[in-house]
Amino acid sequence: MSDNNTLLRTENLCVWFPVRRALPFGQKRYVKAVDNVSITIKKGETFGLVGESGCGKSTLANTLLGMQKPTDGKVIFKGQDLNALSNKEFKEARRDMQMIFQDPFSSLDPRWDVYRLISEPMYIRGGYTKEQMEAEVLRLLHLVGLNEDDLHRYPSEFSGGQRQRIGIARAISLHPDFLVCDEPVSALDVSVHAQILNLLMELQQELNMTYLFISHNLAVVKDLCKNLCVMYLGQVMEAGDTQTIFHNPLHPYTRSLLSAVLSVNLDEKRERMVLNGDIPIPIDAPRGCRFCTRCPFASARCFQETPQLTPQGENHLVACHFPGIGMEK
Ligand SMILES: Nc1ncnc2c1ncn2[C@@H]1O[C@H](COP(=O)(O)OP(=O)(O)OP(=O)(O)O)[C@@H](O)[C@H]1O
Ligand SMILES: [Mg+2]
Repeated sequence: MSDNNTLLRTENLCVWFPVRRALPFGQKRYVKAVDNVSITIKKGETFGLVGESGCGKSTLANTLLGMQKPTDGKVIFKGQDLNALSNKEFKEARRDMQMIFQDPFSSLDPRWDVYRLISEPMYIRGGYTKEQMEAEVLRLLHLVGLNEDDLHRYPSEFSGGQRQRIGIARAISLHPDFLVCDEPVSALDVSVHAQILNLLMELQQELNMTYLFISHNLAVVKDLCKNLCVMYLGQVMEAGDTQTIFHNPLHPYTRSLLSAVLSVNLDEKRERMVLNGDIPIPIDAPRGCRFCTRCPFASARCFQETPQLTPQGENHLVACHFPGIGMEK
C-alpha cells in the first residue's frame, strides 16, 4: 500500500518477452522475466534486490525507469502511474529517476570527454548558461572525487573505478530523487568496491536520494539496505527487513543464497545448503512454485500450487508453502 513515505511501488508487474516460434503455427511462448512483482520502496531508503543471474533484476529496474514497457501491472512513482502519463509528464518524472550501470566500460561513450559526458543531461534539459553549466560540472566532479584536470580526458584514460565515478556524476547531474544502482561494483576490482560504495552512501546522505541497489552479493546488501527482496525466476521469494531476513531466512532459496555467503565465515555455525542444477530458463517456468525443481524440500503441493507472498511476522513476507522448512535441528 502507498502512503506519504512511499516513493515508488509496483502493482503485480509483469514483463514477458515473446519467444520467436519454431513453427509458424506453434504455440505462443514467453520469457517471463518479471512475473507478478509487487514491491514498495520508501523515500530515502536503500532497497536491496538480490537473486541469481537471469532472475529478472535488470528487467525490473528498466521497467521501473520506463525504459521497458510492462506487459501487465503498474509502476507508481510519486503517486503517478508511469504508463498513464503523457510524453511531457513522463519526461519530467524520468528526470527524477536515474541509473548507474553495471559496466562502466561500455556505459560511457568513448568519443566524449568528461565535460560532455557529465553536462549532456543538463544540456538536454536546458536552462543553463555556459558558465552555470561549467560550474555545475566542476562541482559534480569534486563531489565524486575527481578534479578539473580530468575535465577534458576521455573514458579510455581512466580506471574502472574512476569511470564509475564519472557515471555517478552523470547520473546525479539532474538531482534525481531515485537512483537505481544496477550492480554498480560487480565489474570493478575488489580493491575499489568499498570506495565506490562509500561514495554512493555519502551522496545519498548529502543529496537525500532513494536507492534501488541491485546485487549478487548478499554481504554488500546486508550492510547497505534497510529492506530487501529476493527474486527467483521473475518472482519475489522473500521480502522485508534485511536484518530479519538475515537472521531468520524462511525461504529455502534465501537460505541457499545465504549459505553461499556465510560458508567463508568460520565463526558462523550455520547449516550448508548447496543447490543442485542450474536456474531454469524462464520460458517454461515450472508450474506451482518457481523454485520447486531445485528445492530440496519440495513436495507434491509445491509442483501444483503457486505460493503467494504471505506475512510471516512484522515486515517479513515469504512465498513458500512451508516457510522455515528444514530449519529445525
Ligand atoms: N529484451 C529481451 N528479450 C528477450 N528476453 C530478455 C530480454 N531482456 C532480458 N531477457 C531475459 O529475461 C531474463 C531476465 O534477464 P535480466 O537481464 O533481467 O536478468 P538479471 O537478473 O539482471 O541478470 P544478471 O544478474 O546477469 O544481470 C533472462 O532470461 C533474459 O534472457
Ligand atoms: Mg542484470
